[in-house]
Amino acid sequence: MKANITVLPGDGTGPEVTAAAVEVLRVVATRHGHDFHFDEQLIGGCAIDAHGDPLPPATLASCKQADAVLLGAVGGPKWSDPSAKVRPEQGLLGLRAALGVYANLRPVRVHPQLHALSPLKNEKLHGVDLLFVRELTGGAYFGAKTRSADTATDECKYTVAEIERAARRAFEFARARRKHVTHVDKANVLETSRLWRATVERVAKDYPDVKLEHQLVDSMAMLLLTRPASYDVIVTENLFGDILTDEAAALAGSLGLLPSASLGDGKVGLYEPIHGSAPDIAGKGLANPLGTILSAALLLRYSLGLDAEAREIEAAVDAVIERDVLTRDLGGSANTKEATEAVVQQLQTGRARAAA
Ligand code: NAD
Ligand code: IPM
Ligand code: MN
Repeated sequence: MKANITVLPGDGTGPEVTAAAVEVLRVVATRHGHDFHFDEQLIGGCAIDAHGDPLPPATLASCKQADAVLLGAVGGPKWSDPSAKVRPEQGLLGLRAALGVYANLRPVRVHPQLHALSPLKNEKLHGVDLLFVRELTGGAYFGAKTRSADTATDECKYTVAEIERAARRAFEFARARRKHVTHVDKANVLETSRLWRATVERVAKDYPDVKLEHQLVDSMAMLLLTRPASYDVIVTENLFGDILTDEAAALAGSLGLLPSASLGDGKVGLYEPIHGSAPDIAGKGLANPLGTILSAALLLRYSLGLDAEAREIEAAVDAVIERDVLTRDLGGSANTKEATEAVVQQLQTGRARAAA
């Protein structure tokens, strides 16, 4: 199949991890006879440096005509002055809004070999298999902001339509999984949460085969650590989803392992690891590429319909973890390139074995 993929390396370790994922996608394309065309564009801090704009028109145009977008990360100390008018993160938020990708899927699986890396006791980690559906284009991230000398506000606004489309995605995914949706909110305090609760309950009526429960976000933060295996699909608003998924990454062993897929009703999906630009390790070859490589697998599955190829990448990543080719965040000594080459080699030998 032919596909146009826009690649946005971004800042910090972004270029290192996207190069790894593109290499893996090229190997998959060659082995399966696909024709992937990659168009690399600027976003975030590097785009501010080059054009004074974190989301230049050429970048947006490329993303809009693409079948899928693969992003590294944006931001870093160079652009973090609190008084700056233009920030790298505005580029990412602008892109999510422009593509209309309101449902951010963040799967969390825990590889048995990495149990020891989690701060939790091993027995709590057995069977952890979560899918977060984080609403991505609404809430406090996109509300009106005000600032005076001694006051600041961030409006948190949600409409029924915004809540409903995210909730439907969660129930649809739950149907194909363990049929359990946990909706996370702060309905004891926030009016937006009460609208979420009412809307999610109404949507749930269309999915009588799926069990729905509600949890308040403060207690959910605790439950994720005390009984993470009890949950299946977790649906929540933008800000809560941001925080809870970084927390959930600790279950998996490292932030560097978690992928994400952002989907809307349009054809273009946005794929990025959940971690940031990791400026503390940028340029040192230390970044774990697996979260971005797994994001490339999600790209194949959700934007290109290539589920078998996606599974091959996921199996190769599992095998590399089993072979103990681990980057420093996972307690190993492999660099980004070595971990990537191990995945590539696994794809090649794994398939050769299957064909033999
Ligand atoms: P971060 O996720 O960049 O890093 C947090 C910690 O995790 C650091 O110690 C880092 O070294 C480590 N880490 C992250 N990814 C790793 C990887 N692949 N391999 C090994 N270790 C990894 O979060 P931060 O330091 O709070 O934020 C840095 C910048 O990134 C900020 O400007 C922030 O806005 C931005 N950010 C961007 C995105 C994105 O573009 N999607 C996401 C999160 C943060
Ligand atoms: C993420 C990041 C972003 C977010 C920032 C960089 C805007 O933390 O993708 O999780 O908060 O959505
Ligand atoms: Mn985040």
